[in-house]
Amino acid sequence: MSREISRRTFIKGATAAGVVLAAGSYFVWDGKNIPEQVKKGDITYDVLIIGSGGAGMRAALAAAQNKDLKVAVMTKLIPTRSASTMAQGGMNGVTGVTDPKDSVESHMFDTVKGADYLCDQDAVEFFAERAGKNIYEMDYMGYPYNRQDDGHFHQRKMGGSSHARAAYYEDRSGHAMVHALFEQCLANNIDFISECQMLEISMDGDKLNGVIALDMRSGHLMGVPAKSVIIATGGYGRAYWIRTSNPYSSTGDGIVAGMNVGIPFKDPEMVQFHPTGLAVNGVLLSESSRAEGALLLNKDGERFMAKYAPEKKELATRDVVARAIATEIEQGRGVGEGIQAAVYMDFTKIPAERIHERLGQVEDLSRRFAGIDITKQPVPISPTCHYSMGGLETMDFHTCETRVPGVYAAGECSCVSIHGANRLGANSLSEVLVFGHVAGDAAADYAKSNNYSGNQAKLSQDCEKWLNKFEEVTGRDKSAGKTVPEIRDAMVNTMWFKVGVFREENQLQQAAKEIAALEKEYEHCYVGDTSHVYNTAFEQYFELGGLLQISQAVIQGAIARKESRGAHTRRDFPKRDDVNFLKHTLISKDQKTGQYKTEYKDVVVTKFQPKERKY
Ligand code: FUM
Repeated sequence: MSREISRRTFIKGATAAGVVLAAGSYFVWDGKNIPEQVKKGDITYDVLIIGSGGAGMRAALAAAQNKDLKVAVMTKLIPTRSASTMAQGGMNGVTGVTDPKDSVESHMFDTVKGADYLCDQDAVEFFAERAGKNIYEMDYMGYPYNRQDDGHFHQRKMGGSSHARAAYYEDRSGHAMVHALFEQCLANNIDFISECQMLEISMDGDKLNGVIALDMRSGHLMGVPAKSVIIATGGYGRAYWIRTSNPYSSTGDGIVAGMNVGIPFKDPEMVQFHPTGLAVNGVLLSESSRAEGALLLNKDGERFMAKYAPEKKELATRDVVARAIATEIEQGRGVGEGIQAAVYMDFTKIPAERIHERLGQVEDLSRRFAGIDITKQPVPISPTCHYSMGGLETMDFHTCETRVPGVYAAGECSCVSIHGANRLGANSLSEVLVFGHVAGDAAADYAKSNNYSGNQAKLSQDCEKWLNKFEEVTGRDKSAGKTVPEIRDAMVNTMWFKVGVFREENQLQQAAKEIAALEKEYEHCYVGDTSHVYNTAFEQYFELGGLLQISQAVIQGAIARKESRGAHTRRDFPKRDDVNFLKHTLISKDQKTGQYKTEYKDVVVTKFQPKERKY
């Protein structure tokens, strides 16, 4: 049976979704966040997906094309609240609709060059070949693209792209994607297990049991048996806590769960700092602002990007623009101080009509958080942690399988690796569609050809272990130690100032010590809420443990990579070093000692030999 979702399939699906919605019987509003069978413990899922963003829901849709399989999506939020909803600018894909000169080869080259050659070019080619088709697939799903006069979707040119390639819905592209996918999931009878915090992947030796999760509503610990699990939990921007464009939920839970069962964290040091976060709080002002004509100015009104990227200027890649802004600030040409020091983004040359039509969210966010009307006045911005190019190692981009049989990874939490050392704007929404689809197909195939071999008794033991942990942690006395917010605030100071846009050995070594000390404090920190009902204090405690683990891996990777490449800029090693570092970092956690081990894996170079990047 073909796995492709055709226009006809989508129209049927959309009709079914419409009927379900019209009948008023759609998800959650029946008051239940968990299907009865899961509560009773009498279902084993064939494919259990953790995370309800673009990758998770696209994977679910692919797996659910096999009507005899039981497929579920688990999320700690409600399904339409994932971080994917915050992606703004668009999704790249070659269609030739807006720019007939575009080509797959060009998309591939832009991505490889943007990645500073640290990506696997075979994976990039696979991705670029499929990305355009996804734009049409989303069209069939009812995605509300901004359109040209002839009715075709319009595409805009994002940073580092040579052509207008990003199809979009205003500057709310991810939001529209998540809703379109959710409707299709409803029409395909996919189960949702929502408001459930995944705590660990349960294993019995090398056999997959399923997943342990905390039902936030009731405080019950659940073991959910599954033949296969797809980790699609997104990134970990909250390691930079208040200096990120990511939502509070982006705490890297899936990466941590994967590392804890032996999957290496690949290229963790490759953290993307988006150039234009609101200075006041790090919230994203889309790169599409610059695609539509916004300019970057320093405090003297100078359009400084011409000095750093003479050709592409504001539309150079994110690593280049973020470094330029950080340099302007450092050299005294910025405004404000400390973590909120900034330069300006100026929209006043863009007609107000166009801003309303294409940048409505940017306009709204600037007004709400900075009190600025961007049609009249420039808004202070500075780099903000935005994206993790690294993630769980996958063994084969045709399947997204990991080293652990039955466990797959897709989307930002994975590293397949197409983004290398720097991701291009609008490549992530395309990535979640391409590789969510791949992972869903592969996990379904695995489930069809393997019986459940997990150990349900071990699943129950793991629940018991977490229940005891919950009781111990939440029952701690105030005198136990620091609070979760205190440790978190210290973490962001370390990560932002010592593991930020610019890095160097002494600071990284110091950061490693500071995070290690915070990990010690974390062991006996004070949580303070003993309730079982919606205990977000426990949830935040849990998330912080993961963020500290991730921070340590980022630092270890950054210390080991003694070169500058893409988003990883070492002042003490300012040049790219292809002789020693054209390779992926793999950081694994020893299952017994908890120690980190650093290894390397070759980068796949096919069509494009590394050369110096110029923008
Ligand atoms: O700036 C943006 O709109 C972000 C897009 C992306 O990260 O792909």
